[in-house]
Amino acid sequence: MSTIKTTANHAEMASGVNESALNELFIDELKDIYWAEKHLTTALPKMAKAATSEQLRSAIQNHLAETENHVSRLERAFESIGEKVVAKKCEAMAGLIKEGDEIVADTKTGSITRDAGIISAGQKIEHYEIASYGTLKTLAGVLGYDEAAELLEATLQEEKNADIKLTEVAENSINQSASKEKK
Ligand SMILES: [Fe+2]
Repeated sequence: MSTIKTTANHAEMASGVNESALNELFIDELKDIYWAEKHLTTALPKMAKAATSEQLRSAIQNHLAETENHVSRLERAFESIGEKVVAKKCEAMAGLIKEGDEIVADTKTGSITRDAGIISAGQKIEHYEIASYGTLKTLAGVLGYDEAAELLEATLQEEKNADIKLTEVAENSINQSASKEKK
């Protein structure tokens, strides 16, 4: 029974058509993260500008350059599976970005507490992306989209590194300095 199914799946892949519901879910999630990444390319410069410390600003700017590459990797992933490049509003990322804006609005310009808040918002964003790319990479593998799986894995690693970098910035300097800051 399973042999028959496998053969059918291979036949579908060979003809370039995959009509499974899982394939539809995968493409839908790809559109969602594409929207999220595109919006991050406009949100990250604002976060970098709002940051107080040079260390945090440069960490965000480095990740902005990576994020631009994440957008183009996703475009290549769409193309590799013969799908049109389409963005679909990601309500979760829209909310996370809004939360970051609110933290900036609620903290003083030039304060280190603001940096602690930006790191908090930035790590929530990274964790959303890590979860998304982890799922997408796995689904790409299951669906036989090897090229897309490789592209998604490359971005997943960069998201994990960005998260680690933010933890380092927080623990090396920001948190200690912020804890001494008055309201
Ligand atoms: Fe990203």
